[in-house]
Parts: sequence; structure tokens; C-alpha cells
Amino acid sequence: MQTMKTKVAIIGSGPAGLLLGQLLYKAGIEHVIVEQRSADYVASRIRAGILEQVSVDLLEQAGVDQNLKEKGLPHSGIEILTNGQKFRVDLSALTQGKQVTVYGQTEVTKDLMQAREQAGLCSFYESNDVQIHDFYNAPKVTFESNGTHYQIECDFIAGCDGYHGVCRASVSQDKIKTFEKVYPFGWLGVLADVPPVADELIYVQSERGFALCSMRSETRSRYYIQVPLTDHVENWSDDQFWEELKNRLDPESREKLVTGPSIEKSIAPLRSFVTEPMRFGKLFLAGDAAHIVPPTGAKGLNLAASDIAYLSSALIEFYTQGSEQGIDQYSEKCLQRVWKAERFSWWMTHLLHRFETESEFDHKIKQAELSYILGSTAGQTTLAENYVGLPYEIKPLDHLKHAS
Ligand code: APR
Ligand code: PHB
Repeated sequence: MQTMKTKVAIIGSGPAGLLLGQLLYKAGIEHVIVEQRSADYVASRIRAGILEQVSVDLLEQAGVDQNLKEKGLPHSGIEILTNGQKFRVDLSALTQGKQVTVYGQTEVTKDLMQAREQAGLCSFYESNDVQIHDFYNAPKVTFESNGTHYQIECDFIAGCDGYHGVCRASVSQDKIKTFEKVYPFGWLGVLADVPPVADELIYVQSERGFALCSMRSETRSRYYIQVPLTDHVENWSDDQFWEELKNRLDPESREKLVTGPSIEKSIAPLRSFVTEPMRFGKLFLAGDAAHIVPPTGAKGLNLAASDIAYLSSALIEFYTQGSEQGIDQYSEKCLQRVWKAERFSWWMTHLLHRFETESEFDHKIKQAELSYILGSTAGQTTLAENYVGLPYEIKPLDHLKHAS
């Protein structure tokens, strides 16, 4: 058994863990990352791709925004297609100039991994039997990697290990409360090297179900269609996918849609999930370990980023000023933002998807709501200010310094 000491042990090397590592490094705070999968696996996972301005700002502060600046596509509006008609929601005009950036989460992960490698920071990949211990008192992490058994003694553990991780599961049941909603459908997603059907994202509400036209670049598109949970990806040929997508689009988009072979195809279930609290003594949960949103509002990565903004700020404050204020407020501050993003993602999901169980009355009410939202500046503003990201108070991380 090899014993190590560090200040912060980060469990999980997804966007949350990597971003926390990068911000701690910039502040000169020693840490390690323990990840159960291989680096290749982590860098190749396909996920969503919309960044709020506050997430872009945080990546800039972390010094990992070079590719993002070059290749990210700023978007100042989105389209909503309903009843065969497209409406543009002018995000920027409704939110005093704010916009979102289209940049794949896979790219964010790769940029962070590259920065980490360049800085020579410690990550244990392919770690088995990761366990966390004594996190109310003297935290420790044990695991096996590359044939060696490790014990890491640390001041804090950051549980950034996603929905299926070990950190949340290690908290005793009487100290934690979870809230959950599982939706009765999934998203079948296709990635293809074809130019996007439009310059902006199109969220589609149709009688055949929801669809989304998104993109990764000017030559790579990401499309989704709502499918029953009982569907299997093997049963969807590329041709069938394109056919069904076309059936949900308006005639103009149908005409313009360029199809091609998929380079990735998968079905993701939709879920809303929140854990309260997000701190247990010296263990903090962040990102998907603490909460899940359905992808309709594009909030998953952005919520992970805001958790990390609060957590990094709290840890930096603790190590530079000896103050525990940020640590004590971590859970409450995160959860305020989390629940608002949960509400927005749930609302977008309800409004735009077809629910098998909904009555004709429910359906009509939803159509009326959508019509109201799109026909009213107040309605559109509600959508726009949530979509671009609600503001959050965070002390500027200008006390970050480059570690030599
Ligand atoms: N030990 C170590 N690592 C683990 C363990 C474990 N027991 N369990 C899971 N992990 C790793 C996973 O392999 C994964 O690499 O933790 C990482 C968690 O990463 P993500 O699932 O990407 O979660 P997070 O970093 O919070 O990212 C949030 O990702 O899923 C999207 O919608 C989500 O956009 C959001 C973002
Ligand atoms: C994506 O591009 O993958 C994407 C975009 C917007 C969403 C969800 C996913 O709401």
C-alpha cells in the first residue's frame, strides 16, 4: 500500500473534476484526480454542447479557452418549431446582449485534459475499487491502479464522479435526501459529418414527438429525436432516423436537411434528479454526482461548471484566508441555482415533448402555453434568460495565480 498526502482528492475526471483540478492548480492548491475509466474513454464520450456565458468565463479564468475561442460558435438566438411554423427567440435582444456558445462537451473535456497533462498534474486513471473513508473527520481515499494499492490522506474530497459514482453512495441514508423524476421517453441522438440544417438550433415540438437540430461545427451536426424508452438503438438504421427527423420538421428544413452516415448513435434516457445537501463534512458533491437534468434546457454541463465555481472559490478562500464561509455556504448556494435549472429543464421538457399519457385537454393547454410564450415578450424573456443562464454571485477568482 502506497500512502500519499494531498489537500483535495477529486474523484472523477469528467468536466466537473477536471475543471476543479485546473482552478485549484491555478491557485497553487495541491490535489489529485482519481478516475475509474481510461483517459481515452473519458476523452471520447459524446455529450451535449451548449455553454452559457458564465461557463465560458470560467473556462477563460481557468486558462483553457484557446480552442473554445477559436472554434466555439456564438449563438444569439434559437428557433422553436411548433405547428409547422418556426419562431426565432432572440436571446441577445431579450437578455441585454447575452448569448450562448456551441462547443461540444467532449472538446471541453479534451482541452482540460490537455492542460492537465501539460502542467504535469497527477491523475490516476483506470482506478479500481475506489472508496472514500472518514469524510466527517480525517478523509481518505483508497483504490488500486496499475497493480498498486493507494491510500490518499487529504483535507477534502470532491465527489465529481457522476450519477453512478461512489461518493454519493457512501453517504449514510439518514443524512441525504434525493428528489427524482424519470421521463417515459429517451432521446435518440445522431452525430454526422454533414453541414447543420440551420445556423441556429431548432427545438421542434410536433405531433410525432420532440426533435432537436443542433451542431458541433459548420461541418458537423448533432440531431435528436424523442423515442419510447422501449426502443433500442440497433433497431434504428441511419435511413430510418433521417426519415423520422424529416417527418418532424417543417417543409423548408426538410428540404434543406443534408443527411449522411452517422458517426455516433445512442439513446439517452431523460431524468431530473437532485441531492440535498451537497456537502457532508469534508465531502462535497458536484456536477452529475449531485444532480441530473434532462438535456432539453442544455443545462447539465453548465450546472456542473457553476458548482465548481462555488467549490473552487470556497476552497481557495479556505486555503488563502483561512475562512470557512464559502465551504459552509457551498450547498445552499449551489442548490438555489440547481433548482432553478431543474425547473427550467423540466418545463422545457414538458412543453416540447409528447407524453403518451397526456389527455387531449393537457395537450391543448400545452399548445396554448407555447403559443403564449412565443407570442409575448414577457414569455420569450422568461425562456431567454433561463436559456442563456441565470446570473450567480461569485467572488471573482482574480486571486488565482499561476503555479510555477
Ligand atoms: N471512482 C472514480 N471515478 C468514477 C467513479 C468511481 N467510483 N464512478 C464514476 N467515475 C467517473 C466516471 O468514469 C466519469 O469520468 O467520474 C466521472 C464523472 O464524469 P461525468 O459523468 O461527466 O460527470 P460530471 O463531471 O459531473 O459532468 C457533468 O456531464 O453528463 C454530463 O450532463 C452532464 O453535462 C454534464 C456533465
Ligand atoms: C447538443 O448539441 O448536443 C444539445 C444542444 C442543446 C440541447 C441539448 C443538446 O438542449
